[in-house]
Amino acid sequence: MSASPWWTSRFGALAAVDPAFAGLVDAYAEAQVDLIERLAELPPGGRVLDLGCGGGRHGILLQERGHSVVGVDLSQEVIALAQENWDIRNPGVDGPHFVVGDMRAPPVEGSFSAVLLMDASLGVFDDDAEHLRVLTAAADRLEPGGALVLELLNPYFWAHRNLTQHFPPGSVAPNADILRSYRFDPLAGRVQDRITVFEDGKRRVLPTQSLRCWTPPEIAGLSSAAGFSQVQIIGSDGWQVPSGPGRLDPENSAMIWVLARL
Ligand SMILES: C[S@@+](CC[C@H](N)C(=O)[O-])C[C@H]1O[C@@H](n2cnc3c(N)ncnc32)[C@H](O)[C@@H]1O
Repeated sequence: MSASPWWTSRFGALAAVDPAFAGLVDAYAEAQVDLIERLAELPPGGRVLDLGCGGGRHGILLQERGHSVVGVDLSQEVIALAQENWDIRNPGVDGPHFVVGDMRAPPVEGSFSAVLLMDASLGVFDDDAEHLRVLTAAADRLEPGGALVLELLNPYFWAHRNLTQHFPPGSVAPNADILRSYRFDPLAGRVQDRITVFEDGKRRVLPTQSLRCWTPPEIAGLSSAAGFSQVQIIGSDGWQVPSGPGRLDPENSAMIWVLARL
C-alpha cells in the first residue's frame, strides 16, 4: 500500500475515469464565476489565484472574461487537462498560467485581487494546521482589499445525508458503471467519499476522498487565525450556486461559500 496521502492520486484517477469528473466548463461553472466576480468585486483585468484549480473550469472562464489567472494544482494530470481545456476553447490564445504546486506553498509571485479555493479544494489535509498554512499563503498573496472566496461542504447538511449515487454507463464514463457513496464522520467532522468503478468485468476502488468540513464559527476562527478580519458565510441553494449573499440553510445548503477580506 502506498504511503502517499489520498489527495496525491485521487484527482488524476478521477480525470482518467472521465475528464468530466474533474469539472466541466459549463453553465454551473458560469454561475459560480458570476458569483465569484460579484462577491470579490473583481476589477476589470483583476489578478486571480485559483488554488486546487483542477481542470481549470473557473480559471478558464475568468480569463475569458478578461481577468488574469494563475491556477495551481498538485496533480500533473489535471494541470495538463486544464491547459488542454483552455486550448480547445481558445486555440492559439495565451491563457491562464496553470502550474503544478502545493496550495500550502504556491509557487507564485505577486499579489492578487482574489484567491479562490473552489469545490472543497480546502479540506484535504488531516490536520487543520495544514489548512491554516493554505489560508495564510492566500492572505500573503492578496493585495489590499483583495478577497478570499472558499466553497466548502456544509457539515450541517452532510451530517445526516449518507448518500449513494449510481452513474450508469454513458452518464459519466462511457463504458463504466460508477457507484459514489458519501458518509459523514461526526467525530472527525469529515465527509468520506468513495468511488467504485465497474468496467470490463473488473471492479476498481479509487482512493477515498476524506474532506474536512467546518461549521461557520470554525471556518471563521481558522480564517481569522490566518489574518482575515471580515468573514461572511453564504449558503448554497440546495445543490445550486447561491444567487447572492443569503442565509445558510442547514437542511438545504449542500455547500458553504465563504467571503473573507484581510
Ligand atoms: C475537488 S477538486 C476541485 C477542482 C477545482 N477547484 C474545481 O472546482 O473544479 C480539488 C483539487 O485540489 C487539488 N489538490 C489536492 N491537494 C492539493 C494540494 N496539496 N495542493 C494543490 N492542489 C491540491 C486536487 O488535485 C484537485 O484538482
